[in-house]
Amino acid sequence: MQELFLATVDNPYNAAEWALSEMLNQPNQLEKAVEELDRVVGKDRLLQESDIPHLPYVIACAREALRLHPMGPFNLPHVSSSDCIVSGYFIPKGSSVLLGRLGLGRNPAVWDDPMLFDPERHLSERHVDLAETELRFISFTRGRRGCVGGVLGTNLTVMLLGRLLQGFNWNVPEGLDKIDLSCEADSLLKATPLFAHAKPRLNPSVYPS
Ligand code: HEM
Repeated sequence: MQELFLATVDNPYNAAEWALSEMLNQPNQLEKAVEELDRVVGKDRLLQESDIPHLPYVIACAREALRLHPMGPFNLPHVSSSDCIVSGYFIPKGSSVLLGRLGLGRNPAVWDDPMLFDPERHLSERHVDLAETELRFISFTRGRRGCVGGVLGTNLTVMLLGRLLQGFNWNVPEGLDKIDLSCEADSLLKATPLFAHAKPRLNPSVYPS
């Protein structure tokens, strides 16, 4: 049960919390995402799963959060089942292999200005989604032991972020300059939970009672 909770709750909420925090500090990104939601979904009903494929900018925001702010510093540990060579490095059979999520997602040889939260960088992808099969960062990885919940995980993450953006006008609370973006050293979760001002922006009848 703990593993299912980690997979289905912690991953999506971590991505949505980081995306919203970063976007509050760059309000033009908030505006773009809300404009897309208003255009695709409108203000008379809530975002549904069937809308998700038509929301490339909101997906790109969630994807950027997975790249820059992974849940933990390493992927789940794997053991090599045979001798192999990867990028010129010999990895003997039986080695414990840990993929560094920060080393991939924040690699300056792959990503321009890697520490900048910039959803636009994903919009030139052939198909914008949360999967990253080239392992330029780790979202669901790939192969036999890759995440089995990629589709559900994508829907949960985009739905959570999208509905928060669609349903509320978000602002940095008065008295604060910016949202604090520091993270816990070991887990990479946000050091302080997101604290922001949310004001409903849809007709009251649209919100579930
Ligand atoms: C945004 C949401 C999610 C993210 C970012 C995510 C990410 C990952 C990653 C990185 C792995 C390790 C893959 C590897 O070892 O190479 C993994 C494994 C796994 N995930 Fe997810 N996951 C998400 C949602 C889910 C959901 C919704 C489920 C189930 C309903 C799920 C079930 C699993 C399981 C069972 C494994 C272990 C697979 C194995 O070892 O064979 N995940 N996930």
